[in-house]
Amino acid sequence: MKNKIIEAQNLTKIYKKSVKAVDDISFSVDEGELFGFLGPNGAGKTTTIKMLTTLAAITTGKANIAGYDVGKDPAAVRKVIGVVPQELTADDELKGIENLLLTAKLHHVPNALAREKAKSLLKLLELEGAAQRQVKTYSGGMRRRLQLSMGLIHNPKILFLDEPTLGLDIQTRQNMWAYIRQFNHEEGITVFMTTHYLEEADSLCDRIAIIDGGKIKLSGSPSELKNNFGGII
Ligand SMILES: Nc1ncnc2c1ncn2[C@@H]1O[C@H](COP(=O)(O)OP(=O)(O)OP(=O)(O)O)[C@@H](O)[C@H]1O
Ligand SMILES: [Mg+2]
Repeated sequence: MKNKIIEAQNLTKIYKKSVKAVDDISFSVDEGELFGFLGPNGAGKTTTIKMLTTLAAITTGKANIAGYDVGKDPAAVRKVIGVVPQELTADDELKGIENLLLTAKLHHVPNALAREKAKSLLKLLELEGAAQRQVKTYSGGMRRRLQLSMGLIHNPKILFLDEPTLGLDIQTRQNMWAYIRQFNHEEGITVFMTTHYLEEADSLCDRIAIIDGGKIKLSGSPSELKNNFGGII
């Protein structure tokens, strides 16, 4: 049986005592899987990621990441995950390489290791030529790629990607899909990603959960969903 590397049980988030952003959801992700969370604006995708990655407190329910309880052992969880947030966080005034090395420092990656990893990530993501440029000179696609490399600099086992292709044109989105696939297939990194593009989830993900109004409406492999609910999605 496969190891469940992400497990959410009856996860609920209520903001300001009244906004139920995530409403009693349960799901699991196997080690090595590329799992997609698909849903419209305001569905609860970012809130779910924030709870799973220790960035927002869980109101009720429970989550386990790589065997660690998110509520009880957030520091252990943070060591094994990489997070690429929906809002880009790279510092515009710094160069690409400086952003990467700063992120490595925040994760306590030893200097020599960080430089080596930064070099290989910049090469993989075709940012070598831009590494010495300030991020404010980057295009949208370059920023997303840099943000992806920042999420991978400390060699996480699990990568959380919140709308990794938001705002990119179709060609650039497809390039991003290829990078995500590569990290998943070749490096064995489990990926939990959100998207509101059905064709993105369909093309990339081993399994998909569809979330709306804070509730999981459907889940399964893309082909299962198409066979069973062809009229709906
Ligand atoms: N800090 C907050 N305080 C109050 N309500 C919030 C907060 N963050 C999110 N919400 C609400 O929770 C619900 C879910 O928001 P969330 O950001 O998780 O959705 P999403 O699926 O990521 O949407 P999008 O596709 O637009 O990114 C929305 O109704 C939103 O307004
Ligand atoms: Mg969101």
